[in-house]
Amino acid sequence: MEPSAPAFVDPATWWFPMKDVQRIAIVDPSDATREPLRNLLLGVESVWLEAECSRYEFFIDVARQSTPDIVVVSLDADHAKALQLIQQLTLEYAGLPILAVSARGDGQSILQALRAGAKEFLTAPVVLEELLTALGRLRNARGGTDGQLMPNGTTRAESMVISIIGSRGGVGCTSLAVNLGCNLAQDPANSVALVDLDLALGDADVALDLIPDYTLADVALNIDRLDMTFLRRSLCKHGSGLSVLPHPVQMEDIALIHEEHLGRVIGLLRASYTQLVFDLSKRFTPTDLTAMRASDAILLVAQLELTSLRNVVRMLHTLGQEEELSEKVKVIINRVGSEDGDITLKKAEETIGKPIYWQIPNDYKAMLGARNAGVPLLTFAPKSKAQLSIQQLGHTLTGRGPVEPAKKERRGFFSFR
Ligand SMILES: Nc1ncnc2c1ncn2[C@@H]1O[C@H](COP(=O)(O)OP(=O)(O)OP(=O)(O)O)[C@@H](O)[C@H]1O
Ligand SMILES: [Mg+2]
Repeated sequence: MEPSAPAFVDPATWWFPMKDVQRIAIVDPSDATREPLRNLLLGVESVWLEAECSRYEFFIDVARQSTPDIVVVSLDADHAKALQLIQQLTLEYAGLPILAVSARGDGQSILQALRAGAKEFLTAPVVLEELLTALGRLRNARGGTDGQLMPNGTTRAESMVISIIGSRGGVGCTSLAVNLGCNLAQDPANSVALVDLDLALGDADVALDLIPDYTLADVALNIDRLDMTFLRRSLCKHGSGLSVLPHPVQMEDIALIHEEHLGRVIGLLRASYTQLVFDLSKRFTPTDLTAMRASDAILLVAQLELTSLRNVVRMLHTLGQEEELSEKVKVIINRVGSEDGDITLKKAEETIGKPIYWQIPNDYKAMLGARNAGVPLLTFAPKSKAQLSIQQLGHTLTGRGPVEPAKKERRGFFSFR
């Protein structure tokens, strides 16, 4: 079969180099199950549907001619024939990854398929996240790379999810989220998305002077037909390379966004971006909690003053009730050196009973200037104290270690773990 561009894949993105694409051949005699599976595969940008076959007995020939990277065998039309085909494929093409699909997801069916030679088993109807995970594993098994499937067909390391939550209003969450996101996006190896989960009053879009076409509300409205291509198109790209998914424009649309929607969105974004940054509300909403549960790090932003530190204690107490959450919390003190706070760092640590993970200096001029200009610090004041601190925080969080600051900036006043 001559490969052709799938009809609803973005023409700008279907021309990936063939080595980056997983060429897939599927066999399923039943139209009723083959169609949805086919449509799901076509929605994955990294997949090239090389061949489709409706007869088990013809598939060996189809595989010979089309030499796919992966074959998908749907078992339900005739389990015995399908298992025999899997055995035959395994004999003839040792190492060819086979993905078995069946509505019968019981242990016995899974075992039979794996014993016949299938490498992965998915229960029908197949869900996109599970399909992507399985494709990623098959790619890794074949290529020996230790990474995850990207929408452009490449593999990469596991994505990192960072939630940013404040201990009171105006403490600096959005400033941190936006600037951390833009800094992470500077590394060509990264692809970074910022999701504004301050659903009512968030202003990440304003901070970056973005006028988005779509928001989280559009994503929530289309949740049932949400795939990677649609989701990626819904994000607004900033000049720094950061992709942003803003909060809904209309307040009444907040009700459209449920935590299960967010769970699905996070699953898809994880498969697509190397780092996700969430700017959370300060209300501990179900969506905030969903984001925190999905996070690898929760940056709890505070300042050296009483209300903020008291709230840190309260928040740590609440988060501490879920062991998995409390382990991930890192306290960030913002605006260190500002005249407003007379509480020392040592006193703050004693009060909250946890080490301070990071300090961001007070840098009113740079921060406010960048905010008013609607640009990130790395554009407005690339050598400012706040920018260098946040840049280094990004490096530390992502395991790249500390960056050597420019010589004249080497003052050693902030940024230590
Ligand atoms: N390190 C800093 N030095 C000086 N000013 C800062 C610093 N961080 C943030 N600010 C300023 O503090 C103000 C509030 O910051 P920001 O909007 O980021 O806080 P927030 O926690 O997101 O607020 P909200 O509760 O409205 O969501 C902004 O004017 C910002 O410029
Ligand atoms: Mg904010």
